[in-house]
Amino acid sequence: MPTLLITGANRGLGLNLLKLYDQEGWTIHACCRNPDSAADLKAVADVSAGRVTLHPLDVEDPSTIAGLKIALGATPIDMLINMAGYLGEKALREPEGLQPFGVTDYDVMEKAYRINCVGPLRVCEALVDNVEGSDRKTIINISSIVGSIGGDNFGNFYMYRPSKTALNAITHAMAINLKDRGITVIPFHPGFTKTDMGGPTADIEIEDSVTGIKAVLDKVTIADTGRYLTWDGGELPW
Ligand SMILES: NC(=O)c1ccc[n+]([C@@H]2O[C@H](COP(=O)([O-])OP(=O)(O)OC[C@H]3O[C@@H](n4cnc5c(N)ncnc54)[C@H](OP(=O)(O)O)[C@@H]3O)[C@@H](O)[C@H]2O)c1
Repeated sequence: MPTLLITGANRGLGLNLLKLYDQEGWTIHACCRNPDSAADLKAVADVSAGRVTLHPLDVEDPSTIAGLKIALGATPIDMLINMAGYLGEKALREPEGLQPFGVTDYDVMEKAYRINCVGPLRVCEALVDNVEGSDRKTIINISSIVGSIGGDNFGNFYMYRPSKTALNAITHAMAINLKDRGITVIPFHPGFTKTDMGGPTADIEIEDSVTGIKAVLDKVTIADTGRYLTWDGGELPW
């Protein structure tokens, strides 16, 4: 079976998408900041007969990314999903949760950039040889519709938005630079989903999001590289 490596695997979309690949019998490298306290993820690993391996990974900490590479060695990675993400310190429904103009916390903005953009690039650069050595050779960078400039008619999200737009720019460039190595690179919007990040009033259930994401990813080929795809089979403008 193919091999998946996914970041942000302990909760939300990461954990629930991982479960779908686990059900199909994939070998899974599940990365999260604190494996020891990731009870739900450990429960999946415990009954996987060694197919699901947990790795400590804080995408803000380069030493943990280097440690992941050492642990993996030359292990082929068919699908690398950069799922870990950070919105900010306030939930969407809290006052200023939509991050309106005029109240930007620049520390939070920089943290969002480190987690949502710098970290995924660092993970990709560390593991690109593992992806190239696999059969499927696919990298999925989980972005957001909020990263789309052409599709924006709402504004706001001054701390989160630029980190996802920057991730899109990097992912677009990677699609160009890695095509000759046969690697498919996709920026992906998972839908406005009822996770801790999306909150209870988001549009869709976690199950619908991850089922949709997997259905799209099952069909992705090198012909799709660089397309800004969505959980429901759509495509977004940059
Ligand atoms: N939910 C939505 O509506 C929505 C919409 C568009 C895009 N997205 C994107 O989808 C992805 C998953 O979101 P979600 O809704 O599942 O969010 P979530 O429930 O808030 O989960 C976020 C995940 O990212 C991890 N994470 C945060 N900072 C990290 C770091 N420095 N290093 C490693 N892992 C870190 C968290 O780990 P800890 O438990 O250790 O904090 C957690 O596993 C994110 O990239 C998000 O931007 C979500």
